[in-house]
Amino acid sequence: MNPFSPGSGVKPPALVGRQGEIDAFDLLVARAKSNTVGDRGMVLSGLRGVGKTVLLNVFADQARRNDWFVIQLEAQPGAAGRGVTRAKLARELEVGARQLRGKPVWAYLKRARASIGNISASLGATGASVSVTTKDGRADSGNLDIDMEELVEDIALAMKKGRAGFGIFIDEMQDLDDELLTILLSIQHLAGQRGWPFYVIGAGLPNLPGKISEARTYGERLFLYRTIGQLNGASASEALKLPMTRLGADTTDEALNILLGAADGYPFFLQIYGQAAWDVTPGKVIGSDDAQLAVRYGTEDLDRGFYEARWQRATPAERRYLHAMAQLGDSASSTGEIAAMMGKSTNKLAVIRSRLITKGVAYAPEYGSIQFTVPGMSGYILRQNQE
Ligand SMILES: Nc1ncnc2c1ncn2[C@@H]1O[C@H](COP(=O)(O)OP(=O)(O)OP(=O)(O)O)[C@@H](O)[C@H]1O
Ligand SMILES: [Mg+2]
Repeated sequence: MNPFSPGSGVKPPALVGRQGEIDAFDLLVARAKSNTVGDRGMVLSGLRGVGKTVLLNVFADQARRNDWFVIQLEAQPGAAGRGVTRAKLARELEVGARQLRGKPVWAYLKRARASIGNISASLGATGASVSVTTKDGRADSGNLDIDMEELVEDIALAMKKGRAGFGIFIDEMQDLDDELLTILLSIQHLAGQRGWPFYVIGAGLPNLPGKISEARTYGERLFLYRTIGQLNGASASEALKLPMTRLGADTTDEALNILLGAADGYPFFLQIYGQAAWDVTPGKVIGSDDAQLAVRYGTEDLDRGFYEARWQRATPAERRYLHAMAQLGDSASSTGEIAAMMGKSTNKLAVIRSRLITKGVAYAPEYGSIQFTVPGMSGYILRQNQE
């Protein structure tokens, strides 16, 4: 009966505070429907647990309902991740096409389907160099950049005839390998010039916009960038209250303020504390003692799940670095100051820093600074080192 939904990418009982982003994506869909060209893709970036995946899924569903060709991927880091992502891309291309079978656009996709067959062979193979030609001679050069471009052209032009779009939705996009990232950016650029309704819709950590502009100088102009962050007070209240009142329950104002204070506007925390409050309350009205107990239990849950998983993945040297970061708090810290605290040179620590970034625990908001990607991580580290 508990209506709350803490969990990665799990749709919340009340998706609040994101109407601006949803409207922006609706506009993109409407413009594709009227064959308006020259639109940009969208990139959502923000800390862990703010609701990027949920929003990306909402966009993908919206695109599917409008008969778009939809592909959904989650990029994974490292050499292994690169292979997995490509295999998934090949599979999604086939699935994306199948989902349009029987729709009016299906007939236009004939040529594109041949390209999908050809490119799947080269994507599924270990590198981009092996190519097994099926037929037609499109997207079969064995060069991923050329083949992807032909493929996107074939699909996007078919979708244009069908007054819809072709969307590639990429979660954890900061982990996409440089080759595929660069290829997709070039094609997004070309699509804008040629009027193809092709859109990359990405979500990732706060370093994603920087990665995109590093990969391609025109990257800044390719996307509508939206920072996804904490919910404001009114939205956060709604996120807690709405799921309760729908089921005939409620909170006192005091209890609500206790829960809101603990969650600090972070969507994942709202779900955690909301769930705990529901569980500890015997009646229909959550009072302040219930809320206090819920904050204790919720924080224990966060410590054991959200934070501990990340702490466990860190090596002893990385933990020492994280501990120094924690002493400077949750906001951006100077890498020089951290090095000074640890009595080491900034250069010596560069490897540790970049490993923490690769692991997605930290990111560099700007040159010479570092910050946790996980809200509240510093509090967790200090808490557990006290014990
Ligand atoms: N707008 C919202 N209102 C209330 N709860 C939300 C909202 N968006 C997401 N949530 C909840 O927040 C939690 C985290 O959502 P999600 O997994 O999408 O975050 P994320 O930004 O993708 O995190 P990560 O960076 O770890 O992948 C989920 O439990 C979800 O139900
Ligand atoms: Mg996510």
